[in-house]
Amino acid sequence: MPMDTLKLHLEIVDWMMTAGQMIRDSFTTPLTITEKSGYRDLVTDVDQGIERFFIEQIRRNYPEHKILGEEGQGDRIVSLEGYVWIIDPIDGTMNFIQEQGHFGIMIALYKDGVGLLGYIYDVMNDRLYAGIKDKGAYCNGRRLSVLPEKSLSQGLLHINGNTLLRATPAIKAIAKKSLGTRSIGAASIEAISVFTGRAVGYITYHAASWDIAASMIIAKELGIGASKLDGHDIDLLDSKHKIVLGSERLRKEVIEHLAEDV
Ligand code: IPD
Ligand code: CA
Ligand code: CA
Repeated sequence: MPMDTLKLHLEIVDWMMTAGQMIRDSFTTPLTITEKSGYRDLVTDVDQGIERFFIEQIRRNYPEHKILGEEGQGDRIVSLEGYVWIIDPIDGTMNFIQEQGHFGIMIALYKDGVGLLGYIYDVMNDRLYAGIKDKGAYCNGRRLSVLPEKSLSQGLLHINGNTLLRATPAIKAIAKKSLGTRSIGAASIEAISVFTGRAVGYITYHAASWDIAASMIIAKELGIGASKLDGHDIDLLDSKHKIVLGSERLRKEVIEHLAEDV
């Protein structure tokens, strides 16, 4: 039976609003912080609680769906067959802990590997970005315009901080060709900069599937996209992704520059 897209959309918006409020409320209580791979890779009890919240909603309403969650409370996903939810409960956990800002919630729904619905909630600015397959991209319900085919020299370029630390000559050449580089520390917020036309692109060597799944759906509705830096298609079953987000023109430019690096 085909899913009722409008019903799903309204449910997800409601979950996102509740999750955002849970995060804002959490600022009054001390965080429990745990290291994952190291002292720069952290998870808090709030990240885990928000992921649990989404999983409970999905299991209650759609028990047959599969869930890939960053904090590991969902399913072990070995195939993209059927309905698959991809959740990053707090993207930019370091910013959440240190700045109480510049972080987002991301959730995406795929069916047989095709993106249906993608959401990024910029919690502290109360802006919810949504991409609905073949129906456009929206910010707080207002439709966003399709983006122009901009090149590197026409705007700011977001580059992931760890990618910059390992900058090769080709990455430096790309950075110099842009109007300037920016690095926020949250893939969600960097993607929003591209979606709103404040930046022309975002490059990262360090994206997991939950860092890009929602953005890929929103990007498509805005006439742009994400590509692997070797030019191939992104496979969400891979654990790490080196990607560029932007117009086709920009992605081509970046991939050509990087041909010697990847
Ligand atoms: C991280 C942020 C960061 C990026 C990392 C991500 P997390 O997400 O998006 O900007 O550099 O690659 O893992 O761990 O805070 O959800
Ligand atoms: Ca996260
Ligand atoms: Ca993330």
